[in-house]
Amino acid sequence: MNEILIDRTDGVMTITLNRLDKKNALTRDMYAAIADALAQTDADAKLRVVVLQGHETIFSAGNDISDFLNRLATTQESPAFQFLRAISTFSKPLLAAVCGPAVGIGTTMLFHCDLVYAGDNAAFSMPFVNLGLCPEAASSYLAPQLMGYGRAAEALLLGEPFLAESALEMGLISRIVPPSEAAALAQRQAHKLAGKPLNSLIETKRLMKKSQAGLVAERMQEEGASFAHLLHEPAAREAFTAFMEKRKPDFSKV
Ligand code: COA
Repeated sequence: MNEILIDRTDGVMTITLNRLDKKNALTRDMYAAIADALAQTDADAKLRVVVLQGHETIFSAGNDISDFLNRLATTQESPAFQFLRAISTFSKPLLAAVCGPAVGIGTTMLFHCDLVYAGDNAAFSMPFVNLGLCPEAASSYLAPQLMGYGRAAEALLLGEPFLAESALEMGLISRIVPPSEAAALAQRQAHKLAGKPLNSLIETKRLMKKSQAGLVAERMQEEGASFAHLLHEPAAREAFTAFMEKRKPDFSKV
């Protein structure tokens, strides 16, 4: 079955994560497909807006941990990093409908979305440290900016999840609705945007992001180098193996 579904209707491209048996964990092929779709939309004047969505019960469990274990994300040229560069530099409006858990990159990609509509069952988490890793997607810069250092430290150092109401209060998401309504709301807003003058949308987004664009690119590069290094360290190998073996990791020897 296709793990990324792509629909193009009236200028709106909708990208659906469709790997429910693995909780929409993202593989190399899935990242590559999304990065291609974003590049296609950026280059095609008929496509004006992108919506990213998962399922009413799960947005994404983050990077596929067996890909991590098999060392399939080890350089900054890997599809995951290409996806992050594509999402963080995408010029047109980018929306997301998020319900259920949004883990790791499932949360950090939202820092690069313009409008996020969340189900009241949404739970956001960035448990990189618990996996022996470090933040990506410039979340080490964007999370403290958005949440304040204290809450970012709970989210990034402890890996504690936060719920839709906190995400709304800090401005990570735009609105909370029942899970059954999130996708429809994102579609309505996307179609409204698709009817607006494209160059005005692009210029407005560029101006709003201008002050942080250089810092985001620089931080993503630095995070990427650390992340790629940490992936090979004993702590990460233990965390990935423990996840696959459905046990708690033992960091006492690493
Ligand atoms: N990578 C690979 N497989 C994953 C996965 C991931 N990130 N997340 C879930 N899966 C797989 C599980 O191994 C399981 O596979 P199986 O049925 O073959 O045993 C299946 O998806 C269902 O997952 P399960 O944990 O049983 O579902 P749940 O509803 O109890 O919990 C989550 C859902 C998302 C909370 C939980 O799966 C989770 O925490 N996943 C890991 C998140 C993570 O650490 N991601 C990396 C961030 S950098």
